[in-house]
Amino acid sequence: KRKLAVIERCKPFTLSDAQLNQVCGSMMRALKDGLRQSRRDRSSVKCYPTYVRTLPTGKERGNFLALDLGGTNFRVLHVEIGPDGQLKQDSKIYAVPASVMTGRGESLFSHLVDCIEHFAKERGLRGVPLGFTFSFPCRQEGLARGRLVRWTKGFACEGVEGRDVGGMLQEALDRRPGIDVEVKAVINDTTGTLVSKAWDRRNASVGVIVGTGFNVCYVEKASRVGGMEGEAGRTKEGRAEEGTMVVNTEMGAFGEKGELEGVRTEFDRVVDAASIHPGEHVLEKLVSGMYLGELVRVVLLGLREEGLVFEGRRCLQLREKGSVPTKYVSEIESDGPHHRVMAREILEEVGVSEPTVHDCATVRYVCRAVSRRAAHLAAAAVAAVARRVERSPVVAAVDGSLFRHHPHFARIMQEKTQQLLGPGTEVELCLSEDGSGRGAALVAASVR
Ligand code: BG6
Ligand code: GLC
Repeated sequence: KRKLAVIERCKPFTLSDAQLNQVCGSMMRALKDGLRQSRRDRSSVKCYPTYVRTLPTGKERGNFLALDLGGTNFRVLHVEIGPDGQLKQDSKIYAVPASVMTGRGESLFSHLVDCIEHFAKERGLRGVPLGFTFSFPCRQEGLARGRLVRWTKGFACEGVEGRDVGGMLQEALDRRPGIDVEVKAVINDTTGTLVSKAWDRRNASVGVIVGTGFNVCYVEKASRVGGMEGEAGRTKEGRAEEGTMVVNTEMGAFGEKGELEGVRTEFDRVVDAASIHPGEHVLEKLVSGMYLGELVRVVLLGLREEGLVFEGRRCLQLREKGSVPTKYVSEIESDGPHHRVMAREILEEVGVSEPTVHDCATVRYVCRAVSRRAAHLAAAAVAAVARRVERSPVVAAVDGSLFRHHPHFARIMQEKTQQLLGPGTEVELCLSEDGSGRGAALVAASVR
């Protein structure tokens, strides 16, 4: 009986094909509106131009530094492409203390420069151009200039929104004697992932991140991209833009105009209300790693209130925000004979003493329901973008901790994307192993 009640409470997480098709259609309309400068304000999906007009040709050469900020890890990289086209990369992870993530903008940039200085000194690098992967929505004004529209995920530094982060980084670098580094490009992590993959797979045309955050970019006809120097894909002189341009959709924001109200559950609203940016990036909160564990936690607490799980236990720790990181969801859903042991250990870790077989099975059921819906919604977003690409196969480079580490996410997302697209268009989601920092270096290389 309790089992049936749990199934009933989790039903709203199952999206029918009809619902997913409808979401996908509404995403396509949002993409179309986002591309037009005159309608962008009305659309939840912004489709920012990136000024990345070409993907790597294989002819890029030289030494580059890159920064990769905004995912689980902050990295500084050195990328070296030899005369024979061999690419070598070396990177180091640096911590970004929580106080810096939500402190003053100046402290963030001075911290970034500390890390670059340390890294460059250690490797004897000077006078090397730099590509900056900055994984937040930016209104680009050129390849090396991007104004932060707003912080997302766990960042909220004062005095950066509305300002050019490429310029801020350059100023912070210039203030430091003896570094001599020029910021050549500011790119989104989706763009970095796409560019990085395109170095080996020239037909890649979509970049996806399913990690701390969720987002998609793709290669669009430049004439369709509004909001560059001129209106609706026109140059200052009024000529139609030629060629292509990577577009950063900021798809995580889908839903901000109410498009997901038929999909969101009461639990989603609780997670949103308690987040750092309530009401913003609505789809991201249903899909990405920063929120899935939290969603599972909130559902479990709800089930407990109704006496459907953890009977008689106080679950004090489970009441704390963030006590169920998404990596636990991946672990609980892993296959193999030990999954029950795993669920039990994790439950004990979050303060549920002596979990029963029913408790463990319920937790696994909730994790499955939440992560399946996430994979299905991510699939709808990729299918919507793939329809704009107008070619087959569509090769999408994907990165991010959830896509990499969840035992079933990648497969479910691939299957659903293909199903939503139908038989006319083949889609291939391929893991991009090398991180988006490498992409930033390759973009910097293209403008030497
Ligand atoms: C990495 C990229 O590989 O994936 C980052 O280099 C990106 O720039 C990240 O943000 C996304 O994954 P996560 O899970 O670290 O947010
Ligand atoms: C957030 C950011 C976006 C980024 C994504 C993945 O949605 O706004 O720019 O690409 O996270 O890291």
